[in-house]
Amino acid sequence: MIMLNAAVGLGILMQALVAFAQITVYYQQGQQPLASGTSSASSGNYTGAAAYNPTVLNPPAPPNPAIITNFAIQLQNGGTPGASIPQMGSFFGFSIETSVVNQVLGKNSSVLQVPFLNLMANLAQRVGRVNIRVGGNTQETAVLVPSTPDGKILEKDIANASNPTQTPPLIFTPDLIYMMGNISALVDIRWHLGIPFNDTSNFRLGIAEVGQAVLGDHLIGLQVGNEPDLYVAHGHRPSTYGPFDYTGEFSTLVAAVANDSNIPNKNLLIGPNIATGAWTPEMVWNTGFVDEFSTNLAFLAVEHYPTDNCFAQFGVGSPQDPQTLFPTYLNHGAGQAIVAPYLNSTAFAQTKGKQLLMFETNSASCGGFAGISDSFGAALWGLDYGMQMANSNFSGALFHVGGQSVFYNPFTPPPTNQSTFHQWTIGPIYYSALVMAEALGPTNSSQVLDLVANSNNTLTPAYAIYENGNPVRVLLFNYITDPSGANTITVNISIGGGQTGQANATPSQVQVKYLLAPSVSTKGNFTWAGQTFGANFESDGRPQGTLDVQTVQCDQTANICSISVPAPGVALVFLTNAALTEITNAAPSTTFSTTFLTKTGNTLTIDPSVLATSNGHAGMDANKDNLGSTSHGSVSAAEVTGRLEGGALVFSAIVFGAMMVGRGLVMW
Ligand SMILES: *[C@@H]1O[C@H](CO)[C@@H](O)[C@H](O)[C@H]1NC(C)=O
Ligand SMILES: *[C@@H]1O[C@H](CO)[C@@H](O)[C@H](O)[C@H]1NC(C)=O
Ligand SMILES: *[C@@H]1O[C@H](CO)[C@@H](O)[C@H](O)[C@H]1NC(C)=O
Ligand SMILES: *[C@@H]1O[C@H](CO)[C@@H](O)[C@H](O)[C@H]1NC(C)=O
Ligand SMILES: *[C@@H]1O[C@H](CO)[C@@H](O)[C@H](O)[C@H]1NC(C)=O
Ligand SMILES: *[C@@H]1O[C@H](CO)[C@@H](O)[C@H](O)[C@H]1NC(C)=O
Ligand SMILES: *[C@@H]1O[C@H](CO)[C@@H](O)[C@H](O)[C@H]1NC(C)=O
Ligand SMILES: *[C@@H]1O[C@H](CO)[C@@H](O)[C@H](O)[C@H]1NC(C)=O
Ligand SMILES: *[C@@H]1O[C@H](CO)[C@@H](O)[C@H](O)[C@H]1NC(C)=O
Ligand SMILES: *[C@@H]1O[C@H](CO)[C@@H](O)[C@H](O)[C@H]1NC(C)=O
Ligand SMILES: *[C@@H]1O[C@H](CO)[C@@H](O)[C@H](O)[C@H]1NC(C)=O
Ligand SMILES: *[C@@H]1O[C@H](CO)[C@@H](O)[C@H](O)[C@H]1NC(C)=O
Repeated sequence: MIMLNAAVGLGILMQALVAFAQITVYYQQGQQPLASGTSSASSGNYTGAAAYNPTVLNPPAPPNPAIITNFAIQLQNGGTPGASIPQMGSFFGFSIETSVVNQVLGKNSSVLQVPFLNLMANLAQRVGRVNIRVGGNTQETAVLVPSTPDGKILEKDIANASNPTQTPPLIFTPDLIYMMGNISALVDIRWHLGIPFNDTSNFRLGIAEVGQAVLGDHLIGLQVGNEPDLYVAHGHRPSTYGPFDYTGEFSTLVAAVANDSNIPNKNLLIGPNIATGAWTPEMVWNTGFVDEFSTNLAFLAVEHYPTDNCFAQFGVGSPQDPQTLFPTYLNHGAGQAIVAPYLNSTAFAQTKGKQLLMFETNSASCGGFAGISDSFGAALWGLDYGMQMANSNFSGALFHVGGQSVFYNPFTPPPTNQSTFHQWTIGPIYYSALVMAEALGPTNSSQVLDLVANSNNTLTPAYAIYENGNPVRVLLFNYITDPSGANTITVNISIGGGQTGQANATPSQVQVKYLLAPSVSTKGNFTWAGQTFGANFESDGRPQGTLDVQTVQCDQTANICSISVPAPGVALVFLTNAALTEITNAAPSTTFSTTFLTKTGNTLTIDPSVLATSNGHAGMDANKDNLGSTSHGSVSAAEVTGRLEGGALVFSAIVFGAMMVGRGLVMW
């Protein structure tokens, strides 16, 4: 495929920096690269950033008595009762805390994070687009300002933090939105923003005005209030504040937006965004909220984390022991339990013709848990939970991205003072996103069904994905860790025949991709179809290694395809060739090939036709192609220049570092 088979490893990048005298690297004081990589700390005394915490938990022992390891799944063509509403392949997206966008997305509109672009391009290539919310607790008190004294796109003031998650108040400039716009010009990302809601008598609508002006139809939602059911607990509203008060405030906002000619699209609002802490969704629905604001509501949304780690992080709440909690994440019931309180609401949303989103979620609030949120087990958990939401008629889910101080990040840029010698760290939840994108595919019409497999065994769930009523893919999980092989499961998939009253329809062969790691406890180096994003600090956002898609011959006489799934592991079974090929062709396989993407002059303006015709180019370098049509001439090693500036590796755009040409990697 497609993008990669080879990629720029950190070592190679550094060698390249050293090898080419043309590169000028200006280090700021105190920012010289360390002689070797990370210092290794024993987990017990680790004092570094949470995102790289080395804690490894013990995997749960294999179940005793043993589970049934060989079982059948019977599917049928022509429609299956209970399958979900049609889902878009972009179901699994991300929620990025505003205060970290200048680390994750880029420094400003002209210095973008290339690993981020690559990570998003991987998903867009499979399903066409990626949905991202920029917001969080910080959105409520955020202030849009024309500029900041030091020229940065955002400034935080941690000293003024006034809520239990210690999220800093912030100011930001329009360039933050321009940065999002410039990202969407490269990769089809659709954005959600949040309107500050701390002061409902004096709304600050600037983010909606600039957002619509700059992002156009790439802005798909404007959140109204973040977790209003926690306002009282956080001291942001009087103790009497309830769902009717929220509905009233929402009404005030609708009027303000109606009155603002700089917000042309008045129907992008999202509510009620409750944490499902103090309030149930029904308490809001029962105010008449959806009917009253139906025209203005682009989506309905809730937010939820299954538990919290606030005691360890902030001394609030009850202590939790990750080792004790770990098994509770490692079964099918985990995702089901989160979704259960919303089943009535997904049904209610359907009756109102609305889509319900899980707007912010992850393994635990207050940053997740060391050893759980960053383990391979979390990849299985996130994927099963995501599929369970799709099965249960949510219409999308956004997994939260915090900063260096959280365990659950799908992806983490290196600390800014390490960005010259470290690359990104890709967490388990990004693998969940990638696999779910492939499971759903790009058609916007896939329907998901929890198969209640293996007599509803909670350690071996399975889902079918249907298009036009026919099964096209099957997703199989094995949550057990057992290197002996005794808990490897064999799933015998049949289509038609048997009790279905249909002719045998099992194909002669199927193709299978595996998501694998040695243990649910493993950190880093997970593989999806043989490819990986490596361990801590090892990724430029492109999967590395040789793509491994296995072909399994079926027994058409017996009407069975037998698929084995190791313990632990996930198998995505492609029942038709089209089911496999469509997920590699949804968008051009654009990748970007250095640490930061910098626009100088007009060079970042990419002609969409260049992208559109780039399909099939391995690791196309967007800037290079663009430059090919300008007078800058060809890009070669001799032109490479780079400099370190405020911790960001900035290359001038004429200058892309490593680039993929044809099927090979040409270094610098
Ligand atoms: C990066 O900054 C952190 C926090 O200020 C500091 O502890 C660390 O030593 C710095 N690392 C380098 C390589 O300068
Ligand atoms: C943590 O440090 C203490 C004191 O230096 C030491 O006794 C202990 O063994 C360390 N714990 C681990 C897990 O390394
Ligand atoms: C973005 O940051 C770079 C590096 O500091 C700077 O040169 C450039 O002018 C900034 N761009 C904008 C639009 O502020
Ligand atoms: C709302 O937040 C803004 C910006 O942080 C602040 O200036 C203002 O005082 C706050 N208003 C209320 C009512 O909390
Ligand atoms: C934030 O802190 C600064 C300095 O302590 C203070 O002057 C300012 O009033 C505070 N702002 C808010 C909104 O609390
Ligand atoms: C990219 O950012 C620049 C400001 O640096 C802005 O002028 C331009 O409109 C942005 N492009 C898009 C597509 O948002
Ligand atoms: C509507 O906008 C006008 C002009 O900006 C302003 O005078 C008026 O107070 C606004 N009305 C409401 C209800 O916000
Ligand atoms: C489902 O939600 C609707 C709308 O809020 C409510 O009227 C109904 O009572 C709820 N049903 C259950 C079983 O909770
Ligand atoms: C999802 O919606 C479909 C279509 O309305 C329905 O058949 C199915 O039972 C729903 N699934 C769940 C888990 O609510
Ligand atoms: C899926 O839906 C999106 C948004 O409506 C649309 O842009 C895209 O073209 C659709 N894809 C297909 C294959 O229909
Ligand atoms: C599957 O097991 C779960 C957890 O025990 C239970 O809640 C659910 O009702 C079961 N589903 C079926 C279809 O038996
Ligand atoms: C990840 O894999 C690489 C290559 O196989 C290996 O060198 C490295 O030690 C592994 N790292 C971890 C943390 O397993």
